[in-house]
Amino acid sequence: MSVSVLGISGSPRRNGNTEKLLDAFLKGAEDAGGDVEKIVLKKLRFRSCMGCNKCHNTGICVVKDDLTPVLEMIATTDVLALSSPIYSMGITSELKALIDRGQYLWARKFVLKDLEFSAEHIKLHKGLFISTAGQDTNDVFLGAYPVLTAFFNDFGIEYYDNIIVKGMDRWGGIDGHPDALKGAEEKGSEIVMLIEEMKEKEKKE
Ligand SMILES: Cc1cc2nc3c(=O)[nH]c(=O)nc-3n(C[C@H](O)[C@H](O)[C@H](O)COP(=O)(O)O)c2cc1C
Repeated sequence: MSVSVLGISGSPRRNGNTEKLLDAFLKGAEDAGGDVEKIVLKKLRFRSCMGCNKCHNTGICVVKDDLTPVLEMIATTDVLALSSPIYSMGITSELKALIDRGQYLWARKFVLKDLEFSAEHIKLHKGLFISTAGQDTNDVFLGAYPVLTAFFNDFGIEYYDNIIVKGMDRWGGIDGHPDALKGAEEKGSEIVMLIEEMKEKEKKE
């Protein structure tokens, strides 16, 4: 049973530390048999949420642009990997725009109350945050986690894990880090095998 894996690169810098880490994760996922797709936000044309709150009445976002099909893909993928470097102690504006545009699902859950995910659905849909930071401090990723948590919750996705590498300034970039890319690759394989196993088990029950 194939496992769909969607990786989204939220870094404005192409083939930088964070995208390389995402690529390693996706390679591991593909090697394990995952059906992998990658989207680079930098290549898309989109706008941020206007705060019009029309979705509070309709459950649909009025903005139609390159993010519209991306949000639809996020809603159906088995595994979602959202990646962003740390910018000013948070995620990039590219990834934040995508996350805010998911507000229509929050509206469906909490305003219109016409959407609810079962515990089983949430268990079978896993989300990961992939990030790199220049500083070597332990708190550098803390601003990002609540944002990712809110988005995964809106989409009925379990927040599975983080693949985070700090101290890029010290390492001189991700290529200088001995274990980071290998670790990300292993995590990609791990998540595909896990979901596959869970799907098989569910089929037998
Ligand atoms: C605008 C900007 C803001 C940044 N802010 C931070 C920060 O607050 N903390 C930090 O540790 N690194 C910060 N960095 C460094 C990046 O997080 C780091 O170099 C990262 O590995 C870059 O990833 P990339 O190669 O995918 O672009 C910042 C970099 C830029 C360009």
